[in-house]
Amino acid sequence: MKVAVIGANGQLGADVVRAFTAKGDLVTGLTHQEIELSDAHSVLKTVQELTPALIVNTAAMHHVEKCEGEPERAFAVNAIGARNLALAAREIGAVLIHVSTDYVFDGSKRAAYSEQDAPRPLNVYGNSKLSGEYFVRSTTEKHFVLRTSAIYGKDACRAKGGLNFVELMLKLAKERSGMRVVDSEVVSPTPTVDLARQMVALSRTDAYDLYHATSEGSCSWHEFAREIFALTNTRTNLEVAQPDEFPAKVPRPSYSVLENCALKKKGLNLFRPWQEGLREYIGQRGS
Ligand SMILES: NC(=O)c1ccc[n+]([C@@H]2O[C@H](COP(=O)([O-])OP(=O)(O)OC[C@H]3O[C@@H](n4cnc5c(N)ncnc54)[C@H](OP(=O)(O)O)[C@@H]3O)[C@@H](O)[C@H]2O)c1
Repeated sequence: MKVAVIGANGQLGADVVRAFTAKGDLVTGLTHQEIELSDAHSVLKTVQELTPALIVNTAAMHHVEKCEGEPERAFAVNAIGARNLALAAREIGAVLIHVSTDYVFDGSKRAAYSEQDAPRPLNVYGNSKLSGEYFVRSTTEKHFVLRTSAIYGKDACRAKGGLNFVELMLKLAKERSGMRVVDSEVVSPTPTVDLARQMVALSRTDAYDLYHATSEGSCSWHEFAREIFALTNTRTNLEVAQPDEFPAKVPRPSYSVLENCALKKKGLNLFRPWQEGLREYIGQRGS
């Protein structure tokens, strides 16, 4: 199968390229230099030239503070960009896998969100991604929209620059005698390799739909850090930060755990508990 991956040099995109390539697919990885999502002409031209059977969009403007400061740009990339891609996919008859986020929810449910729950984003980023979801779902029938959460992988996240949470914690533990991490935000840390594997599995079906796609289980950032230190035998003094110690500049959901209801209902859920994914990531670090 011919597959085009947008955002191919990103944290998730790099693993998506590897996952489809490993299955024998003919993969073209597209970087920002080769395609501009917010430009309908660039999107259509690139897609028409490549004629992939499947397009995977991992690209987004997802730095939450930047999105808040530049709402027009955030919507141009995350909403209109998603529409541009959905129109191009429909034009050539390609399937579209599009990545969305847990930040479409406000967190007030305090229990895992299903695909049936009403979204209510708290910030520009979440609103622009939700708008992108709606454009994809209403524009092209052959879509998989995957909402994910707190991803980390071996390639750096380009938007946030530098280290993922695991690497940041391990670096800080080396530099300091102790640290304080918030327990007021609850997420489902999801390895990018797991999400990429789920995409490959879905791409072999025609179960087009909106899906929650995260690791099983959940934890606060503090619990995540504790598990990282336990698995790496790192000795450090880890404490819970006070709720007002690191005030967020932009509102975020304090609870954004997603339940993979649709995947489970269709017998397609491949995700494992977040601790297992973390253990594998740590085992493979540096290899
Ligand atoms: N990080 C998380 O915890 C998290 C959680 C939930 C959902 N997500 C979603 O997961 C996806 C992947 O995240 P990631 O961590 O892999 O991001 P990343 O490392 O920042 O990669 C994003 C990629 O998109 C490209 N890009 C940005 N704007 C573009 C545009 N206008 N046109 C074409 N390409 C563009 C970037 O290129 P340049 O860097 O060269 O601009 C980069 O290659 C995003 O859709 C994000 O919303 C992430």
